[in-house]
Amino acid sequence: MKLLAIIGSPRLKGNTNYLVDQALEEAAKLGAQTEKLILSQYEVNPCLGHEDCASFNSCQQKDDAGWILDRFSKADGVILATPVYYYNLSAQMKAFIDRNYFLYKHGRKSQARAVGIIIVAEVEGIEDTLHTLKQFIDESFNVREDRLFIACGYANKPGDAKNNLPLVEEARKLGRQMVESLKKGS
Ligand SMILES: Cc1cc2nc3c(=O)[nH]c(=O)nc-3n(C[C@H](O)[C@H](O)[C@H](O)COP(=O)(O)O)c2cc1C
Repeated sequence: MKLLAIIGSPRLKGNTNYLVDQALEEAAKLGAQTEKLILSQYEVNPCLGHEDCASFNSCQQKDDAGWILDRFSKADGVILATPVYYYNLSAQMKAFIDRNYFLYKHGRKSQARAVGIIIVAEVEGIEDTLHTLKQFIDESFNVREDRLFIACGYANKPGDAKNNLPLVEEARKLGRQMVESLKKGS
């Protein structure tokens, strides 16, 4: 069972990354094969918006989005994790979501059967960010509502999340619940 986390924070020692590690560690303890991709470490450019995706076999932008989307489509479980930037997703996560438009235009959805959302904000914006991610998930996955797991909370400086114990436990629980739900089958 493969669990892939896509991380929208550029802070390698930041809160989002820390919480994803917590979720993946728990998932690994239950037998999942885990991987995380930090979008800022790759080249994932914004969508060019030509709306011609359907006439091409692959996205015309030759950056890292192609293989990341391929891995994203094939994982059994996907975690989308982002900090709140100006009341919504980070730009890295937004670019990744927009590049999914190629798959959308080819009628392809992720085959994941469980999805996790991790969001961290300093003070506000979690609701709008959650709304955006849920809209994306509705369009891009065929996942049952009871297979969507959410961990959201507050932290600011790198390391703060570690001290937000309820949030840490939510992230760990998310990792366990994703694996447990996947073990139950489709
Ligand atoms: C460009 C930018 C915009 C931000 N906008 C918000 C915001 O709208 N609401 C909020 O509560 N926090 C905001 N923050 C704070 C981050 O969400 C917060 O520091 C979070 O813990 C960062 O997560 P990270 O450590 O994983 O990068 C912003 C931070 C940055 C750098």
